[in-house]
Order: sequence, then C-alpha cells, then structure tokens
Amino acid sequence: MAIPASLQKGLKLPVIAAPMFLVSGPDLVVECCNNGVIGAFPSLNQRTTEGYREWLHDIKGRLTPDAAAFGVNHIVHPTNPRLMADMMVSVEEKVPLIITSLGAVRDVVDAVHGYGGVVFHDIANVRHARKAAQAGVDGLILVANGAGGHAGVVNPFALVEEVRTFFDGTIILSGCLSTGRDVAAATMMGADFAYMGTRFISTTESQAQAEYKQMIVDAGASDITYTPAVSGIPANFLTPSLVANGIDPKSLPEHKLDMADEAKAWKTVWSAGQGAGAVHDILPTADLVGRLRDEYAEACAVFDKKRF
Ligand SMILES: Cc1cc2nc3c(=O)[nH]c(=O)nc-3n(C[C@H](O)[C@H](O)[C@H](O)COP(=O)(O)O)c2cc1C
Repeated sequence: MAIPASLQKGLKLPVIAAPMFLVSGPDLVVECCNNGVIGAFPSLNQRTTEGYREWLHDIKGRLTPDAAAFGVNHIVHPTNPRLMADMMVSVEEKVPLIITSLGAVRDVVDAVHGYGGVVFHDIANVRHARKAAQAGVDGLILVANGAGGHAGVVNPFALVEEVRTFFDGTIILSGCLSTGRDVAAATMMGADFAYMGTRFISTTESQAQAEYKQMIVDAGASDITYTPAVSGIPANFLTPSLVANGIDPKSLPEHKLDMADEAKAWKTVWSAGQGAGAVHDILPTADLVGRLRDEYAEACAVFDKKRF
C-alpha cells in the first residue's frame, strides 16, 4: 500500500481529480496540479492526436516547479481508433500517470514503465481487478456504487477489503467522494488516493456548461438515474437532464437509445454521481482544493481525539 514515489512530488493531498469526458481540460488540470492534487483528462477530449499533444505542451508550460503530477486517460478498447497514436504521444511526452479504462494490457503497462511512468487502471468489480493486477498495473481505481460516469454497483467497503487481499499496489477509491472528510475516510478504509469526479465538474475551470454545473449544485442523490440507455453501459446521469432531453426516466429501456453518437449524447445528457448532494457551490479549483485540505486536516484531528 503506497503512493508511487514519482507521484509524491508536489502532492499536498491524496486526491486525483478524475478524468471526465468533455469536462476535463488543460485549465482544470493545471489548477489541480499547481494547487497540490493530481489533475487528469481523457486524451479523447481533444479531437485529434495532434491536438492531444498540443494540450500536453500547454499543460507542461503552465505547471509550476513544485506542481503535482498529471495524468491522462486512455480507453483501451477496439472501439477507440486513436489508442495506438495517442499512446505513442504519451510515451514520447513521458506522461507521468496513465489511467487505462476497459482493457488492462501488459504491452501498455510495459511501454509506460519503459519511461518511468505509472499505470492506474479503472475497475468496477473484483474479477476485473484480478485481471488488471495480473497485467502488472501499479494501481487499481475501484469505481464503486454511485460514482459519476460508468459507475460500478459494488459497495466501496466491500471492494477495498476484497481487492486488498490479493493486490498490494496503490488503491484509488472512486465514487461519491466530495469533501475533505470523504478523503480522510477513504484513506482510513485503506485507500491511498481519493478519486473525485463530480465535485470537480462544478469548478470555474471545468469545461462543463454553466447550466450543468448549476444542475449538480441543485441536485441530491435522488436526482441521479443509473441507466444503460445513454451509452450502452450503465452510467449515472442527472435526472433533470434526461427530462430536458425528452427522455422519461420512469420508462427507460435496458438498451441504448438511438441518440446519434456517444459524444453528442454525453454533451446533452449530463453525467454526475450520487455525491452531487454534497456539492453546494461553483468555485475556482484553487479554492476547492484549499477547502478540501482544511476539511481533511480537521477530520484527521477530530478522529485523533475520538475513542468510540
Ligand atoms: C461527466 C463524467 C465523465 C466521465 N468520463 C470519464 C472518462 O472519459 N474516462 C474515465 O476513465 N472515467 C470517466 N468518468 C468517471 C470518473 O473518472 C470517476 O471515476 C468518477 O467521476 C468518480 O465518481 P464521482 O463522480 O462520484 O466522484 C466520468 C465521470 C463523469 C461524471
């Protein structure tokens, strides 16, 4: 159980701002890293591989010398035609943290280790965690019940404990972590990092539309619908945004609705996790990270004094 040495530089809180399709871009990443948490984005948020390389140059050029590391998410699946080209750019540019989704592949791990990078892989169940551990990943991102995006259905306590029985790499917990208290709780459960998506959508620097950011502020856990209808794989969406697109949340099919392409679907139907209920404001990332650090320190101090 440890945070890899290369990711400890500049880290002021064990938090990764999770990569989010259409939401995470250079401004959010730079603000995260310069304030001491790891920022990340999916390479597919740029339309082309060359655009992806330009984003990397932009980010690197704006990071302060004591910034935390940054990460890039690659979808390792045959449906991603850009995988090879984007991975080559990641290797050439020596991206410190590669976050893989869907496929955990030994070749990708070897390529990243070849330049000293670190690979964390997304899993939503124990079977996939075992496969990724065998592929040699450095860390497992446990995507628990209630998370934004393609969430799992397993309880976070169950997931952390079971994965720890066979994996001694870095454990990153994902799902409904919104406050510094949640970060402290995640580390107390045995996770090395908290992975936070929804909380970072409602920041000044995220690329989400203003109405999307506000909808999260207004939402609670009961305003989140878990359905495969938007992307084919079950994911969590803001119920008011389903309604706004003429989709009745009470009669959703078990298959993907005909909604043109995937990007268009995610652009109009907005994803968020059940942790939306703990998001009460839209604020600059620097202020959010400062608040998370204060809440974390306070939670640790209170716990130290508690007996039962
Ligand atoms: C709008 C949105 C888009 C997402 N897109 C991606 C993605 O492209 N790749 C990925 O690995 N995870 C994606 N995720 C999942 C997040 O990386 C993370 O696991 C999740 O947001 C954590 O749960 P939380 O939102 O409850 O904090 C997305 C999540 C959201 C809310």
